[in-house]
Amino acid sequence: MPTLAIFASGRGSNAEAILRRFAEEPDQKVGLILSNSSKAGVLDLAREHKIPTYVSTRSEFYAPQSVCQTLAEHKIDWIALAGFLWLLPPVLLQAYPGRIVNIHPSLLPKFGGKGMYGARVHEAVHAAAERESGITIHFVDEHYDRGQVILQKRVPLTAEDNPESIAAKVLELEHRYYAETLLNLMRS
Ligand code: GRF
Repeated sequence: MPTLAIFASGRGSNAEAILRRFAEEPDQKVGLILSNSSKAGVLDLAREHKIPTYVSTRSEFYAPQSVCQTLAEHKIDWIALAGFLWLLPPVLLQAYPGRIVNIHPSLLPKFGGKGMYGARVHEAVHAAAERESGITIHFVDEHYDRGQVILQKRVPLTAEDNPESIAAKVLELEHRYYAETLLNLMRS
């Protein structure tokens, strides 16, 4: 059965949306949640959903083959990054060519790159007085936020929007489209 690993560093609201949607699918499953922090909220969520978890230290994550071995043990075919803050090591990119996906909370290439995550993205969008924002779902390569785009969805912004309201609008799109896009990719 096509099996997904979710890599997440934080609260895990996207991971939760993915878990809920995948639970409705008899033929595709989430087989592992990996985090770089033992304090990440996403780990509680994984336990609730009875999904195996793995917490990786930085040295282990960048040691050739070590994470690949864990993924192989859990029979992982695809990887979804959902708020995961570390750049992936080349060995992992080579092990999963075209099968690692990320979601970014802006319309890339705008407001992407190293250090552009979380509230900073929405603050920058607000400061630039953008008239729209949105999400980008893309394949992962060796650069931050630069891989081939799979899907973008837009949302209009108004003069009344602030970074918090922009974040809420964008998060709603993330939850609506990420799981569905992953299911489609894993079916193809
Ligand atoms: C999301 O905005 C996602 O686009 C970005 O990190 C955030 C993670 O949020 N890559 P959550 O942990 O899924 O709630």
